[in-house]
Amino acid sequence: MPNIISADQFKKEEVEKILSRSAQMEEECRKGKIEEVLRGKIVACVFFEPSTRTRLSFETAALKLGAKVISAENAMENSSTFKGETIEDTAKMLCSYADVVVIRHPVAGALERAAKVAEKPLVNAGDGANQHPTQGFLDLYTIKKEHGRLTNLNIGFGGDLKNSRTLRSLLPLLRLYEGNKFYFLSPKELELPREFVKELKDHGVQFEELRSLEEALPSLDVLYMTRVQKERFADEKDYEKVKDLFIFKKEHLKKLKSGAIIMHPLPKINEIELEVDQDPRAAYFRQAQNGLYVRMALLCYVLNL
Ligand code: NCD
Repeated sequence: MPNIISADQFKKEEVEKILSRSAQMEEECRKGKIEEVLRGKIVACVFFEPSTRTRLSFETAALKLGAKVISAENAMENSSTFKGETIEDTAKMLCSYADVVVIRHPVAGALERAAKVAEKPLVNAGDGANQHPTQGFLDLYTIKKEHGRLTNLNIGFGGDLKNSRTLRSLLPLLRLYEGNKFYFLSPKELELPREFVKELKDHGVQFEELRSLEEALPSLDVLYMTRVQKERFADEKDYEKVKDLFIFKKEHLKKLKSGAIIMHPLPKINEIELEVDQDPRAAYFRQAQNGLYVRMALLCYVLNL
């Protein structure tokens, strides 16, 4: 049974299939002729952490493919988790109602635990600071669509690299492709955890870690900005110290190549100046829209359709 728990689980061949299925979904949406391959299925979307895009794009994807949707937002307060139910028991129950269960949870590893008892495919819509594999796929799809390739690119990641689960899911997917160089741009406090640095070294990946945003900008084909993940800080004072350290400003646009793109998983708070939105290189709203096509493809993937 194909679950989607971590981006690390995918082989290149599967990734390629999912990317081309996503392109097919985009084409079907554009033509307004969508084959309702999920007719008769029920998709559950249960979110224990806030979400706008992930939940609503999954629900839209399910509905477009002809499925019905059951949904719990704010599930930390509005589900039996509030009473102390374990993720294992919740997942087991959801599997008796739905054909696919999409879950977002604040605890890293929660989806892996749930998958051990689930009898239906599970999709990880984000587990703590750990993984967000469906975002990784939509990010990969966006890079491919915008640049026409996934190889020989200079890709910079800016901001909270310590806590960004989207980065942790995008990196293993990008690593499947040759000739890419990564630039990790963050203050020391938010740097990429050392275990990931070691993993990159072990895989022979080319990368640099820099403490400023500016230096790398002229080399980049993709700048992937991230939000400082306030909810992962134990002490709000520590968040306040770092929250404004890495901001992409309008003046930075001059340093970026004309063919470069700026990505962000959204929501963005103040890490990208508002004026940047007008620049055609700002790809984040196009990126979010791609989430719909990619999630349509991923729902088909877990149902072997
Ligand atoms: C991301 C997440 O939830 O990790 N949001 C999303 O799903 N697009 C990024 C974030 O919240 O900063």
